[in-house]
Amino acid sequence: MKYEKLIRQMSLSKKVALCSGADFWNTKSFEKYGIPSIMMSDGPHGLRKQDKDCDHMGINKSKKATCFPSACATGSSWDRELLKEIGKAIAEEALHEGISIVLGPGINIKRNPLCGRNFEYFSEDPYAAGELGAAYIQGVEEQGIGTSLKHFAANNQEDRRFSSDSIVDERTLREIYLAGFETAVKKGKPSTVMCAYNKINGVYCSDNKYLIREILRNQWGFDGVVVTDWGAMNDRIAAFEAGTDLEMPGSAGFFDKEIIDAVKSGNLSEERIDESVDRLLTLIFKLAKVKDKKCSYNPDTHHQIARKAAANSAVLLKNEDEILPLNTSQKIAVIGHMAKKIRYQGAGSSLINPTKITNVLEAFDNRDVKYSFYEGCKPDGSTTDTLIAEAIEGARNSDIAVVFAGLTEIYESEGFDRETLDMPEGHNRMVREVAKANPNTVVVLFAGSVILMPWLNDVKAVLHMYLPGQAGGEAAADLLFGDVNPSGKLQETYPLKYEDIPSAEIYKNGGDRAEYREGIYVGYRYFDKSGKDVCFPFGFGLSYTTFEYYDLQIEKQRENIEVKVSIKNSGKIAGAEVVQLYVSCMEEGVHRPEKELKGFEKVFLDSGESKRISFILDKRAFAYYDVYSRDWQVQKGKYNIQIGASSRDIRLSQVVELEGTVLPGTQKDIKGTWYEHLKGKPKKTDFEKILGRAIESKKPEKRKKYTLNDCIMDMQDSIVMRIMYKIIERKYGKTYGGIDYTNPAFKMVMKCSTEVPIKNLCTMSGGDMKRHTVEGLVLMANGHFIKGLRLMLKKN
Ligand code: BGC
Repeated sequence: MKYEKLIRQMSLSKKVALCSGADFWNTKSFEKYGIPSIMMSDGPHGLRKQDKDCDHMGINKSKKATCFPSACATGSSWDRELLKEIGKAIAEEALHEGISIVLGPGINIKRNPLCGRNFEYFSEDPYAAGELGAAYIQGVEEQGIGTSLKHFAANNQEDRRFSSDSIVDERTLREIYLAGFETAVKKGKPSTVMCAYNKINGVYCSDNKYLIREILRNQWGFDGVVVTDWGAMNDRIAAFEAGTDLEMPGSAGFFDKEIIDAVKSGNLSEERIDESVDRLLTLIFKLAKVKDKKCSYNPDTHHQIARKAAANSAVLLKNEDEILPLNTSQKIAVIGHMAKKIRYQGAGSSLINPTKITNVLEAFDNRDVKYSFYEGCKPDGSTTDTLIAEAIEGARNSDIAVVFAGLTEIYESEGFDRETLDMPEGHNRMVREVAKANPNTVVVLFAGSVILMPWLNDVKAVLHMYLPGQAGGEAAADLLFGDVNPSGKLQETYPLKYEDIPSAEIYKNGGDRAEYREGIYVGYRYFDKSGKDVCFPFGFGLSYTTFEYYDLQIEKQRENIEVKVSIKNSGKIAGAEVVQLYVSCMEEGVHRPEKELKGFEKVFLDSGESKRISFILDKRAFAYYDVYSRDWQVQKGKYNIQIGASSRDIRLSQVVELEGTVLPGTQKDIKGTWYEHLKGKPKKTDFEKILGRAIESKKPEKRKKYTLNDCIMDMQDSIVMRIMYKIIERKYGKTYGGIDYTNPAFKMVMKCSTEVPIKNLCTMSGGDMKRHTVEGLVLMANGHFIKGLRLMLKKN
């Protein structure tokens, strides 16, 4: 241990105290031992530093900072260098504010597009998520600021996020839900990893020894600090055993007594606590220096980085008749409230208080452009006959109509899942009516995730900005007028309808149990193998120029395979292409996706320029996770190496033969199941085969004895808990300008307070809510009113 001497001087109670935060954002300091405190802040897309007067859920206004595009956008850039640059800029702002750790990046897999928080994540593909996450981490950590890679792991839904149990088979866990984290940990070397709220196969992530000690620490070699997501600590003793070091926020000693008792009775070895303290001290002493480094940054320079990032991340989905870029001499009708007030970021813990915002209209005003503006719809996404009539009139009298539409805030947020893939009906109507009035209609989208586009055939072009950050308005204009050539590509498959997704039925219907029945067949891994038509495939995106792929060469090296390919910009203007490398196993035996992404490179080329690029593929690029040997194995045989412009636009391919090691083991287990043919939807019995165990049927609900692990929402048959609900509703109603479930911030804090195990309210409130209070409440909910009330009113 690095700090053995210091640790020996510390009393058990002080060591235990260090392992729980001082408040919402700081660790504890101990003057006597010379241990300073460090401060952390969200988040992935910019800094959300809150001052002393922060509210309990920590969602109120923070200090001004640059709001960079969200991960749904930057993921679509496929640009490692860009992610590094954003990371560096955020680190500079952290240095300026004296923040030691930035809580990000979030690299969870976009398993189902209804996940309310997909906008904070990069991809449906673990290779892409891991690579981009690693680049962001490097950018931040190289400046001497820590990161927190989150949310570890299998955290793929927001509804019931505090208690849901992700039931995943081992192979799927390794290949889909852990692989990105593995890359980000090994390549990025984050200072901390944040464990998720949910359970995996029955065990909360905070307590999950298999996940944290065995996989993260022993197998991947992570020696940094594991911090809980805010309020995610379940069982502190199990968590020490698992190797979870820091509970955030601090719970004002909620667990202290039971930990000390456990050490005294021999149920927990003090060594476990010492290990955590050592890791924490290493982190604190490394990062505390941040406060002494006086660093300033230039908000305008960072705004320009945000603008470049947004422009390089947007995806051009359609461009019939080369209607884009726009011509400045055209008479343009700009339609849609979002042109006046763009949606540039998502709601929740990643919400930034931006240094400035440029809307599309301002960006148009800064150019010599003839345009007229029509609202088309209301801020909430609805519309009226009058607004539509004005928009139609405007579209008719213009050469071209550019409609700004997408998802309004309540449609996607941290804290709750989406109800539908549809855009607000008002937006769909606006697009449809404008397209009828003017055949030259262009749609610009602001949305953090997949949406359905029922009007796609009626419009000439679609430019998807995702959530582009504070400079999104300028970036949209840069792209529309051709100052920047679009180069983003989708990191998620756009299905034709929601029902086409393999997890469609199970996703929102499992209550506390999230069965990952589709196994490894997530996103394009499912769509490409099942051959189902899609609206837009994974990796898709257009440009104003064209690219040629040629001269694929594959060379076997001793351990690896080198793949070389040339790419040429064959069009008239400069542009960038995302070259994607997919690997397909051509052998029978183990069931595999039709192809899997194993390399990508974003190449910038002037008109007529060409470049030769090279990929190195190691064993893992060809391997599957074998549940029998509990290791990665390469099956002997032929592999098709494919170079493409999307998962469904393969330009070049070549077969290589590899010496494998292991005979296929898993195929016989899936005989006759969904995984063999991918027809229809996977059934529970199919899933049980790959899971290797039966899933207990849910028992009919009967009145049970409540515990500290139940949440207020689930205890609503108790009048005390109904009153509690109302009290919380009232309280947040005051903070958020009224009880309004169409306000995403209000809806989120309500969910956070009433869907979390009641004991975790002690942490979620930063220690304001005491253990005896929640214990008293539970006693009352169980019918022991007087006893409970007495306990509640107990003095500290
Ligand atoms: C979120 C984390 C975030 C933390 C602190 C949690 O609710 O899940 O992503 O870092 O709050 O704001």
